[in-house]
Amino acid sequence: MRLGSVVSGESARPAESRVLHSRNPAKLGEVVAELELADDATFRRACRAARDGQPAWAALPAPLRGRVVQQVGRLVEANKQALAELVTREIGKPLRESLGEVQEVIDTCTFFLGEGRRLYGQTVPSEMPDKQLFTFRRPLGVVAVITAANFPVAVPSWYLVPALLCGNTVVWKPSEQAGAAARALAELLWHGGVPADALQLVQADGRTTFEGLELALEDGLVDKLGFTGSTAVGRRLGELCGRHLQSPCLELGGKNPLVVAPDADLDLAVEGALFSGFGTAGQRCTSLGTAIVHERVYDDFLERFDRAVSSAPIGDPFQDVLYGPLLGEPYLERFEGFLGMIAGHHKRYGSTGVGRITAANPRHGFVGDPETGLYAHPTVVAGVAAGDELYRTETFGPIVGVAAYGSPDEAVALANGHGYGLSAAIYTRDPRTAFQFAEQCTAGMVSVNNSTSGAEAHLPFGGNGLSGNGSRQSGIWVLEQFTSWQALNWDYSGKLQKAQMDVAEPPSDPDFRLDG
Ligand code: UN1
Repeated sequence: MRLGSVVSGESARPAESRVLHSRNPAKLGEVVAELELADDATFRRACRAARDGQPAWAALPAPLRGRVVQQVGRLVEANKQALAELVTREIGKPLRESLGEVQEVIDTCTFFLGEGRRLYGQTVPSEMPDKQLFTFRRPLGVVAVITAANFPVAVPSWYLVPALLCGNTVVWKPSEQAGAAARALAELLWHGGVPADALQLVQADGRTTFEGLELALEDGLVDKLGFTGSTAVGRRLGELCGRHLQSPCLELGGKNPLVVAPDADLDLAVEGALFSGFGTAGQRCTSLGTAIVHERVYDDFLERFDRAVSSAPIGDPFQDVLYGPLLGEPYLERFEGFLGMIAGHHKRYGSTGVGRITAANPRHGFVGDPETGLYAHPTVVAGVAAGDELYRTETFGPIVGVAAYGSPDEAVALANGHGYGLSAAIYTRDPRTAFQFAEQCTAGMVSVNNSTSGAEAHLPFGGNGLSGNGSRQSGIWVLEQFTSWQALNWDYSGKLQKAQMDVAEPPSDPDFRLDG
């Protein structure tokens, strides 16, 4: 399957063709798609086409745009199995998780189809007679969306669906690792009724996209950027947008803590740590970074966690496994580099080896043939402390640190101290412990007795500090990202009434005092 960029419904060929093979990370011999990568001029051309198509799309009444979102949701539902299988083939997440991911697209459509009939503005009283004030949400114009490989359809839908619903047109640059899944989602959007001019798809690498975005911003063709990816790239994109007086929607990395209080249900905490540490092979931005465990239950937790991780089935993502391969070759390479952060004072648990799983470095109970894909041993690193590189680095792979704490203040300091602030969890039976932690924790999302992963599609999603610039996605909160408020004041008095100056003074008697 040869896939390229699609500008206004036409396949857009770059002047110089560069082809990248998107391979199944569980079976490297299988090419899922040949991606023809665009050049920077194609990115700019897509933005121009989105600009030209925006007035017509915005002219469609919002309830009808909502109807389009409804049709897209239905179409995704009808293609749920096929899309999930493609996600699993292209990026290797277990089929059950891929089905959940596609469900997240459907949920997002379900939420926003009704927003087409709301998109509420306000009526506001004026300080003068014969005058009315209103607020309206207006679309921004063209939204550029750049997304990552780990959630190739759900996270893009968090941008695409509300941005379109609000009357913007979109230029979407998916990860090169997930070009086929992206194309499939785009097809479902187009076939669901999103006009070709309203959604442009550009398959390109990161450097070209940056250059194309710079050109497009200079030409005034982009009004908003949505980006999910690393903190380092988010920083560069944030600088670029800042120069154009724009505030991008940035969803960046995490080093998500999971605190286990002394009164926690340890089995539940282990289950949560297993899922959030190793689900999607630890490659979610919400993945567990460090379990922060009270010293009274530390040994007990570690023993149970080790047992759970050591016996978890890992392997073929089409089987019933905890996780499959890493997303692609560069991800495995980077992950192997992170393993170098395991230091002398640490102790390693969780598997029969460390690093890449091969016939020579086997994983006990592996499901399938490790040699065909990009598999890594799960690694639990005990004895992590605040000074460790492993404590402050997002490791994006199947590795979880375990640190001990004594007082609640120490737990909070460890939970916040690395500077990321995406998702945090605490396991406790005590409401005071839970609420105090939530209040002091700087993460944008906090779970009590649930893992750091698995945010529901209609709560605000996003982080602080190194995890983002405070922007939030999903639910009603994302509307702030894709609309701007227009204040309308309408004077029908027939004269110029000057605010603050021509306002009546209500009479009062300021010297009045009650007797006695
Ligand atoms: C991401 O990793 O970028 O909360 C998104 C979760 C998922 C979304 C993760 N619903 O883990």
